[in-house]
Amino acid sequence: MSDTLGIALVGCGTVGTGVARVLLGHADRVARCAGRAMALRHVVVRDPAKARDPIVPTELVSTDASAAIHDPHVHVVVELIGGTATAKDVVLGALAAGKHVVTANKALLAAHGTEVFEAARRAERTVCFEAAVAGGVPIIRALGESLAANQVTAIQAILNGTSNFILTAMAEQGMTYAAALKEAQRLGYAEADPTLDVDGSDAAHKLAVLAQIAFGVAAKPHEIARQGIDTIDAMDIRFANELGYTIKLLAEAWTGGHSHAANGAKLSRGGAHANGNGPPTVALHVAPVLLRHTDLLAQVRGAYNAVLVYGDIVGETLYQGPGAGMMPTASSVVADLIDLGVGRAQRTFAAAKLWGREGRGFVVEPPERVRSRFYLRLLVADKPGVLADITRILADEEISISSLVQHEAEEEGGSPVPLVIVTHYASTGRFRRALARINALPSTAAPAVFFSMGD
Ligand code: NAP
Ligand code: HSE
Repeated sequence: MSDTLGIALVGCGTVGTGVARVLLGHADRVARCAGRAMALRHVVVRDPAKARDPIVPTELVSTDASAAIHDPHVHVVVELIGGTATAKDVVLGALAAGKHVVTANKALLAAHGTEVFEAARRAERTVCFEAAVAGGVPIIRALGESLAANQVTAIQAILNGTSNFILTAMAEQGMTYAAALKEAQRLGYAEADPTLDVDGSDAAHKLAVLAQIAFGVAAKPHEIARQGIDTIDAMDIRFANELGYTIKLLAEAWTGGHSHAANGAKLSRGGAHANGNGPPTVALHVAPVLLRHTDLLAQVRGAYNAVLVYGDIVGETLYQGPGAGMMPTASSVVADLIDLGVGRAQRTFAAAKLWGREGRGFVVEPPERVRSRFYLRLLVADKPGVLADITRILADEEISISSLVQHEAEEEGGSPVPLVIVTHYASTGRFRRALARINALPSTAAPAVFFSMGD
């Protein structure tokens, strides 16, 4: 066996603890796979007095990231702090010091990926980030290596374990949103700031990373339309269920070139971009979507993630597994360390040039052009003329209604009452214009709630 690979762990919370458990608890297995031993040499944290898993050697724990990065016996810095401030300094500092980097930090990559990857190339070092998207699911390798012969034409994915856990718990156990979120935090699925999970930002960060690899686009935050699960009420889950649908937070990328012979409707979810002459387009969005109960992604439960990838050569492929949590995420981090130990990651990184400014010609489709069917739930006064006002506004925007159900008030004479409308295909822009007018009606008792339909 060749030289020992020295590792500095910067951040030892949920994921860092899992990585320490694998490196120290399965050292022989890791060494066998990497062809060399791995030695954990530093564990950098914010609060050294905090109680830690007993497997973490106390003598390695410090708050000194600089000492860890500059230790000549450290070859790889594993950044598991999170956020975009200190984490960025750690990653750039490590690369400048000639260390390879492994990170699970999708927020950092979405915001500063280009800078990080350019710094790595300048330093002739490698950045590995399998754990940044879909936790324990090896989607980065699948897209970057196994599907390398393809041009990806669409991605449809559940990328946030916390949101999927909350939606599953609300739908199947009748748990409240607040209780389900608390449980997701207890289980180590949520971000330090769980707003990022429930408002769609975390999934958007991950979609930005996938968009880089699959399409070579560096999407700016405003180019990924995002809507979270924080507006979903238990009644929407119930009404969706009555219609035969499950609500899932989906991250989607649809190119203008995507064609799916088995389901022409899916093409339309990508946008209005059949503009033959222009550059190829890709629409990127994160939003709750109503999926038929029988849909593959509708059956992904709890903190699991799943990614459907359509490639122009392979067709449709599906990747599924635990998308968050200590050990699944550690599995991906240690896989990156093993690849670095073997030397595979360095060769792939140098050859594939996955993250560059040059791109592959794709431009991002403006969100308002994306077309979809919509679920619209209103709370309206139960009196004559209300329905006519709403349907007129939809007609003005040429939005056709597919179904409409007014639910009875729970008490006699009770008002407002829920009204659920499912539309035919419409552009997001037109739908939002209609929504603004509907929300302004005096008979509308609360802001309208709406979600895309997945069919
Ligand atoms: P976490 O439990 O909050 O742990 C963060 C760690 O970073 C803690 O050990 C903390 O120290 C340390 N830290 C924070 N600020 C620091 C600073 N300024 N200097 C040094 N250390 C600092 O977070 P996590 O859940 O493990 O997530 C880590 C990263 O993995 C994030 O980028 C996250 O998005 C990503 N990720 C998480 C999951 C998951 O399921 N949790 C899955 C995939 C990816 P103390 O321990 O002293 O507080
Ligand atoms: N908070 C993230 C999630 C962790 O729930 O998916 C995995 O990236």
